[in-house]
Amino acid sequence: MDRIRIRGGNPLNGEIHISGAKNAALPLMTAGMLTDERLVLSRVPLLADTQTMGELLRQHGTEVAPSGNDPRTLSIGGVITNTEAPYDIVRKMRASILVLGPLLARTGEARVSLPGGCAIGTRPVDLHLKGLEQMGAVIELDAGYINAKVKGRLKGATIVFPMPSVGATENLLMAAALADGRTVLANAAREPEISDLCDCLVAMGAQITGIGTDKITIDGVERLHGAEHEVIPDRIETGTFACAAAITGGALHLTGGRMDHLGAVVRTLAEAGVEITETPTGLMVKRLNGLHGVDAITEPYPGFPTDMQAQYMVLMSVAEGASLVTETIFENRFMHVPELNRMGANINVHGKSAIVRGVKQLSGAPVMATDLRASVSLVLAGLVAKGETIVNRVYHLDRGFEHVERKLAACGADIERIPG
Ligand code: UD1
Repeated sequence: MDRIRIRGGNPLNGEIHISGAKNAALPLMTAGMLTDERLVLSRVPLLADTQTMGELLRQHGTEVAPSGNDPRTLSIGGVITNTEAPYDIVRKMRASILVLGPLLARTGEARVSLPGGCAIGTRPVDLHLKGLEQMGAVIELDAGYINAKVKGRLKGATIVFPMPSVGATENLLMAAALADGRTVLANAAREPEISDLCDCLVAMGAQITGIGTDKITIDGVERLHGAEHEVIPDRIETGTFACAAAITGGALHLTGGRMDHLGAVVRTLAEAGVEITETPTGLMVKRLNGLHGVDAITEPYPGFPTDMQAQYMVLMSVAEGASLVTETIFENRFMHVPELNRMGANINVHGKSAIVRGVKQLSGAPVMATDLRASVSLVLAGLVAKGETIVNRVYHLDRGFEHVERKLAACGADIERIPG
């Protein structure tokens, strides 16, 4: 298994181009299942997760092929020949559940392996299933699979989520786009990736209003057609590299990055002593003087994203003073803490909150990546730590960050991948 070796201490300076958003690309790829024609998606990041999604769609019969010479532009669509999403693929990537809505809407049936828990929590899919049942689907759980059927088309319904869920909002949006009648999704998630999916569905002929709000109305149509759509830039990658600039005391130009998608991250980093300004092509990030401890609490968008919590905690671990970092979205998302403490951080977890007391210096150590965002936080820690850090289990990193070591090395980091 590959490892990443980092020798810390170099400030990062230069330009990093932000890739397309993984969390936008995955649902957009499944939206390609909604049409017989072709959805051409550009700026799809080259990641293990987008490859897994391609593999899943192909085994449903959907064509997924590069369009032209750019490997990041995919042409997706066609006839669905197989409605089963097998355990072997779903277990690799929870976002596989996003085929459920499109399969049901297109074919009237779906058999999708239950994704089960993952390292960061139990992560149920009850909201996806309840919403589809309200739209007329009959759902049974059997031998670890979701068996879903509907006679004729799904029916429009008013679905009020007890809490905003990104995945459930996306699944139901896609189901509703081809349903009979009007669907209202209330208390829907408002993440930019959801607006991106809505924009793409509209380009395919869907009728959607309330895009970007927590009340989305979809008037179902009988069929969707092909379209071209560009995936939005990855706001989590942007925020992560902003932390890299801040933690190493450098200045990075993040081309393609969008300020308007960063929400609470920009405000929190600014309070902590990081300057983020818009440029004609992206964002400029620079640490001003020292870093100060500032509290953060994860919330649905536009609040502070749970996917930035681990990276922010690394920043706080070398800031002056203490901060309280609270995780409200997932129950077990502090697995990076013991690893960071092994590198000399001073972090104490109490239930949903972690008290981070800033230290002067982290020290390099061999560490273990536990999940996607935790693994990139260990890379950030390695960039500022004294000596050598080896990050093991890099496959987590490859699921969600495109060429992270190349991008960082090009800006002066002493970082390399050790194939294993
Ligand atoms: C998506 C993102 C993930 C991010 C998360 C929260 C993708 C591919 N993944 O995950 O990176 O960390 O949003 O911003 O876009 N829940 C239920 N029942 C459900 C669905 C969710 O109880 O049926 C709970 C979850 O356990 C969690 C919360 O709702 O506590 C939010 O989860 P959700 O927004 O659904 O996250 P994902 O779509 O899985």
